[in-house]
Amino acid sequence: MSFVKVARVSEIPHNRSKLVRVDGEEIAIWHVGDKFYAINNVCAHQHISALHQGVLEGINVTCPMHGWTYSLETGVAESGSGRVKTYQVMILGEDLLIEYTTSPGY
Ligand code: FES
Repeated sequence: MSFVKVARVSEIPHNRSKLVRVDGEEIAIWHVGDKFYAINNVCAHQHISALHQGVLEGINVTCPMHGWTYSLETGVAESGSGRVKTYQVMILGEDLLIEYTTSPGY
């Protein structure tokens, strides 16, 4: 496990997201309040990579395709079923890093 720089903090305004790719994996970084969250961008429903374009409500994001909703904190589906992977976020100055491991798991 290691941390990988994926963005600069100033690139992601409040209540917005940025799509990043790490080792071919698409990850949505969301900025909510004073926190950043990182979740796998691929919805558990039909495996469409769209969660960075989702609708934010509190710390939940709703997939724009068919409306499954996930917690940005846990990745667990609040509506629909299943979960998406989450990643630990670390801020170092202006750099935003996420914990990334190639082994599967949540
Ligand atoms: S692909 Fe996300 S809800 Fe269907």
